[in-house]
Amino acid sequence: MLALLLAGCDRRGPDGEQVNPREKIIIKFSHVVADDTPKGQAARRFARLVEERTGGRVEVQVFPNSTLYKDGEELDALMDGRVQMIAPSTSKLGSLAPQWQLLDLPYLFESEEEVHRVLDGEIGRKLFATLEGYNIHTLAFWDNGFKQMTNSKRPLVYPEDFRGLTFRVMINSRVLEEQFRLLGASAVQLPFNDVYQALAGGQVDGQENTMSNIYSQRFYQVQPYLTVSNHGFIGYVVLTNAGFWQSLPPDVRRVIEEAMAEVTAWEREQAAHLNEENFKQVKESGQVKIHVQTAEEKARWKEALAPLYQKFRGMPGGELLDEVLKAKRAL
Ligand code: LMR
Repeated sequence: MLALLLAGCDRRGPDGEQVNPREKIIIKFSHVVADDTPKGQAARRFARLVEERTGGRVEVQVFPNSTLYKDGEELDALMDGRVQMIAPSTSKLGSLAPQWQLLDLPYLFESEEEVHRVLDGEIGRKLFATLEGYNIHTLAFWDNGFKQMTNSKRPLVYPEDFRGLTFRVMINSRVLEEQFRLLGASAVQLPFNDVYQALAGGQVDGQENTMSNIYSQRFYQVQPYLTVSNHGFIGYVVLTNAGFWQSLPPDVRRVIEEAMAEVTAWEREQAAHLNEENFKQVKESGQVKIHVQTAEEKARWKEALAPLYQKFRGMPGGELLDEVLKAKRAL
């Protein structure tokens, strides 16, 4: 009894008051990647900061590796309030608002700095606004990083090398499917947690992803060819259920926003660091033949993929493309 009382006493809110267990706020944060990835680490750090700074009044429970909800489920779970936070790749929001596919256009960004300058401004705000009306409140953009190509058949040097191959793409993005079609390959949408099996079992020949995902999901163990192409960017949007957000006391919302801003800055650095670190580990494994794309090869890929830009201009959100290109010129 005494132990229970004492245990209850060390939970104090920011103003020093004890936390009544009945007033405890639980945030379930579901995501699909491993713990030791930029998103996995940032989710845990966010959980720790929020818990510390609310004296235990808010508990953030992190569910990694699609253990709670997987791709194709987590957005619905968020909108229904079965989870309170998720951080999907932007491509996966295409089912709600096709405008997000803008960010899937190959070679749209050259560096993380460009991504941040564009998304942290007006264009990012316009994208956030597409989610209003879905009971979703947007908290931040996090980085995953630039994508590299892997496959089991041959080195991918020129567009011709893609001919006849099948690639897994992230769910809900027509732009990603079209990217592979233009390269002469076909594309299959698969949830992230099914990718390793599909690669290992030969249902698909290849996939595109960041080094942290290629390493943490062990794709490199079943994909003997890797091209460092940096041809696209995977970013995350950290989302919460809007009704839940509105129901939170203002002081709690403030703590969450401040912790999120801090974690976002940290996450972006950590993503760059982990992608570098994981690239070294993949190299050192000796299991992969690595090709680093040259400027001449990149020009050939870009030429093959150029029709996608034209096509996107005719899609919802097409007007945002010229805004991005303009914003990049102004950097
Ligand atoms: C993928 O599906 O390949 C990625 O979006 C997974 C992730 O969340 O990084």
